Amino acid sequence: MLLRKRVAILISGRGSNMSALIEAARAPDYPAEIVGIISNRAAAEGLEIARRESLPVAVHSLKNYPDEIATDRAISQTLESWGVDMVCLAGFMRILSAQFTQRWQDRLINIHPSLLPKFKGVDTHRRAIDAGEKKHGCSVHFVVPELDAGPVIARSSVPVLPGDTPETLADRVLLAEHRLYPRALKKALQRLPESAQQPAA
Ligand code: GAR
Repeated sequence: MLLRKRVAILISGRGSNMSALIEAARAPDYPAEIVGIISNRAAAEGLEIARRESLPVAVHSLKNYPDEIATDRAISQTLESWGVDMVCLAGFMRILSAQFTQRWQDRLINIHPSLLPKFKGVDTHRRAIDAGEKKHGCSVHFVVPELDAGPVIARSSVPVLPGDTPETLADRVLLAEHRLYPRALKKALQRLPESAQQPAA
């Protein structure tokens, strides 16, 4: 019998990549089940989608804790209470502390809208157009304390077309993201060290 790994997703906004992962996990042979969604914003649109899916949700916003470390500790406690094996950042727009990324080392992955190592950080689509790139895309990578710098698991590229604006390019990249993330999560789970697995809560 397939032993599905327990995966949580962290979001800040609309949650379309979250939805792509939820959709992929509906397949009986997909190696992950989504066990909960955490946001740093109570108003994140993706939380509504998660509630409609009857998934557990939690909000841990910086403004409800004394500092970043305390916020990240609260996130870790929720993840531990869900018995999570792997954490997916999907448009989670807050930089997590080094304590957090080290705590979840090898079990924390992120999707980034560029062909890493190109265009780390924000505003990637505009920067790709301004740089005259012919190809752009997205990457899924393990998270390390340094921003967008961890080992890449998988990438997917799209063309940059004449007349592209950051918005048209972002739309094209987003479609590639939705295909890439489920595939990359599967790959990351295959690399999950046995020692890093959580006992189910
Ligand atoms: C996605 O394009 C994702 O790659 C990006 O935010 C968007 C979230 O969309 N993430 C980053 O820029 C992280 N540095 P979504 O909420 O619809 O998944």
